[in-house]
Amino acid sequence: MHSLKEADLNGKTVFLRADLDVALVNGEIEDDTRLQSAIPTIEYLLKQNARIIIAGHLGRPSPKSQISPVPKGGNLKSQIGTNKNDFSLRPAARWFADKLKIENCKFKVRDLSGFEGWEIGPDIFLLENLRFYKEEEKNDPEFSKKLASLADIYVNEAFANSHRNHASIAGVPKYLPHFAGFHLQQEIEVLSKVLKNPDRPFIVIIAGAKLETKLPLVEAMHRIADYVLVGGKLAEDIKTLFKIQHEKIEGRKSALLIADLKPKEEDITEKSIENFLQIVDLAKTIVWNGPLGKTSNDKTRIIVSEEGSRKLAEGLVKSSAYTIVGGGDTVGFLEKACLLDSFACLSRNRCFLSTGGGAMLSLLSGEKLPGVEALI
Ligand code: 3PG
Repeated sequence: MHSLKEADLNGKTVFLRADLDVALVNGEIEDDTRLQSAIPTIEYLLKQNARIIIAGHLGRPSPKSQISPVPKGGNLKSQIGTNKNDFSLRPAARWFADKLKIENCKFKVRDLSGFEGWEIGPDIFLLENLRFYKEEEKNDPEFSKKLASLADIYVNEAFANSHRNHASIAGVPKYLPHFAGFHLQQEIEVLSKVLKNPDRPFIVIIAGAKLETKLPLVEAMHRIADYVLVGGKLAEDIKTLFKIQHEKIEGRKSALLIADLKPKEEDITEKSIENFLQIVDLAKTIVWNGPLGKTSNDKTRIIVSEEGSRKLAEGLVKSSAYTIVGGGDTVGFLEKACLLDSFACLSRNRCFLSTGGGAMLSLLSGEKLPGVEALI
């Protein structure tokens, strides 16, 4: 991958694909870790006198809310208003304006060559949710070309979405000189090191939402890690597997341990969390993605079904293993449990917070990420 430091950025317009997919509660950003991760790259680009078009997605808008790019000379007005829904990136635009201390930002929907968005400063424009365009997820070449025509240079600072073969991830870089953002580069460096030669026992804990992404990864991780611990809804969905499945891989015995759930399936049982913590005690490398039980949007308190995750998080802080925690919901949970600072305080040699959930697990299970491949 080409480092951003190699790029001649002076006077250029940069298409910056960022991780804008954050959890919102009543329109408020619950955890801004993903947005924060783009700041060093944005500050560097501005210092180099570049203009930035920030692009990304939020959630999974239904096909009904999708629109098409406005053809040249077309009427944008017909589409304004489609972004007044839960999937609008307006809160992210505001966040960047506040963070970068941009004054007098009016937040009017503006048109940039047929794409809606917000001018959030003289040199920054943030495009509305790209998943409002059905062409994004289809990696449509015409759509990619249209996006590429907005800029001179492409930068990927969206590690958490780099496992998706979507236009803004894998299509646009085909048509522009392309570079890795600083955070993305760090993710690849740290995770590749773990993938190549983890200190063992190496333990992977997988739970949370997005089953269709994670289920295939459970098996892949089983072949790489010494223990794979599965909790949450995922545990329920693979209960057809043995509760503890051992396999001999490259001469070592690896175990897949699936948690028992409480009767209403809201959290893993006390016994399962005890078992998990005993294994955590043995670990030299730990990767955790996904809350073990149901989470709530209430930021003010930990609810009963979040106790398993809280105990696990406390166990990870105490453990001496090198720990990687990844994924929006998981990092969001740490913040709510007031444990994010404890993790952030741990030294670089002890802990890494990844912005990626599915992307992190895909990379660790040896898959090639389309977003990373496109930068090579
Ligand atoms: C994530 O949150 O894992 C990424 O933003 C990818 O989102 P997706 O699973 O909806 O593609």
